[in-house]
Amino acid sequence: MAVIENSKITVVGAGSVGSSVAYAALIRGAARTVALYDINAPRAEAEVLDLAHGTMFTGSSSIIGGADLSAVEGSHVVIVTAGAKQNPGQTRLELIGTNARIFDTMIPQLVEAAPNAVFVIVTNPCDVLTMRAVRRTGLAPERLFASGTVLDTSRLRWLLAARTGVAARSIHAHIVGEHGDTEFALWSSATIGPVALQDWRRPGHEPITRAHMQELTDDVRNAAYRVIEGKGATNYAIGLSAVRIAEAVLRDENAVLPVSTVLDDFHGISGVALSVPSIVNASGAFPVRETPFDAEELELLRSSAEALREVDASLPE
Ligand code: 2OP
Repeated sequence: MAVIENSKITVVGAGSVGSSVAYAALIRGAARTVALYDINAPRAEAEVLDLAHGTMFTGSSSIIGGADLSAVEGSHVVIVTAGAKQNPGQTRLELIGTNARIFDTMIPQLVEAAPNAVFVIVTNPCDVLTMRAVRRTGLAPERLFASGTVLDTSRLRWLLAARTGVAARSIHAHIVGEHGDTEFALWSSATIGPVALQDWRRPGHEPITRAHMQELTDDVRNAAYRVIEGKGATNYAIGLSAVRIAEAVLRDENAVLPVSTVLDDFHGISGVALSVPSIVNASGAFPVRETPFDAEELELLRSSAEALREVDASLPE
């Protein structure tokens, strides 16, 4: 797809996630300029060089960056990946102490360097860090939100594609709530193409039962733990997820993606960042209030909200 003239994505954090986001942005031609910023100068400069060496093979994007905050200036989208990552078996919420301290200093600096950007928080726990950053910067919730369960939704659709034989992009099912252990699937509105999930039939493929739905939910909830156990971190799929979100902003797509914004009276829930299907465009992310939740799903959403409120409240402001 053609690069949007003068568009700029800045990725903050040149670790495995940040460098994968930058790599995905170059390969997908997501922006005219991709910047990679990290306070660790040797790391940032080496990642920029390594990426730049491949730009003969990618689109017409340029890659810049380093440890100077000026690399962030002029960004349309800033994707924040900097911070500590999960150790094997560690939950995302357990990272909050370390990463909140990093964010408290870093986010205001980024907003000052790119005052008109849309900010996408990838660092975990992305929902709680988003709540805190919106409070402390005063940015409108649509302008600073988390990648949330876009990645988990991709994991679910990959599993459903394997089970049904239908392409993942023709499967309309969402993981919502916390990007973490309390996330859940919106089964009541899931469809395979135009067919409700529970009505889907195809020769040679088993129908999707309630038992299958629970198994699929468990697989998605545990996906990151499995990858982290084996290779120490996840990076490729989150890289692609974050760039997909940035594209929807840069191209003013009005795409529906389950990103995590601080909700305002969404099915009665306010003040918590949770992933729900949202319209993503050049102004940022806007929850789709009409998203149907059945009684069980509403209960799960409230539980997810409580889990995040508890962690958010545990931090000194
Ligand atoms: C993931 O879900 C660790 O949040 C990261 O892959």
